[in-house]
Amino acid sequence: MYSQYLYISTAPSLSRDEVNAILESSARNNPANGITGLLLYNGRNFLQLLEGEEGELVSLMVKIEHDPRHTGISMLDRMTVSKRACPDWAMRRILLAESVEKRRELLDADLPKGLDAQTRKIIINFAVLN
Ligand SMILES: Cc1cc2nc3c(=O)[nH]c(=O)nc-3n(C[C@H](O)[C@H](O)[C@H](O)COP(=O)(O)O)c2cc1C
Repeated sequence: MYSQYLYISTAPSLSRDEVNAILESSARNNPANGITGLLLYNGRNFLQLLEGEEGELVSLMVKIEHDPRHTGISMLDRMTVSKRACPDWAMRRILLAESVEKRRELLDADLPKGLDAQTRKIIINFAVLN
């Protein structure tokens, strides 16, 4: 069994490079810790899905909570799953289409098939918020 955490946080106006730096340290660290997931940034807020062994997620959340690049971390859901939704993604950045109207359908195609319906809905609803 694996744990999945879904949280949002606040970080206004980070540049693409600043967000990429987060992805780079995730790609460096997560494989060794058996962590996979996805990250969305809409210009004001992050939404991240993390999955892995419970103990690893607890340790990573301590680091993430102390990261000065964002504030107001709010856990939306903690789940237990038998299979990872993102087995191949050390941490995948999901880019949002410019057009809010197109985001829903593009994301629906882009998000991993193994996500449960409720989590998929929360992620898509986050993405279509302006
Ligand atoms: C929104 C957000 C998501 C992050 N996700 C991860 C992650 O999945 N894995 C990770 O190792 N660090 C993540 N970090 C970075 C950690 O807070 C921390 O900076 C990093 O793990 C430190 O490791 P490093 O010294 O190897 O860069 C994230 C930071 C932010 C702001």
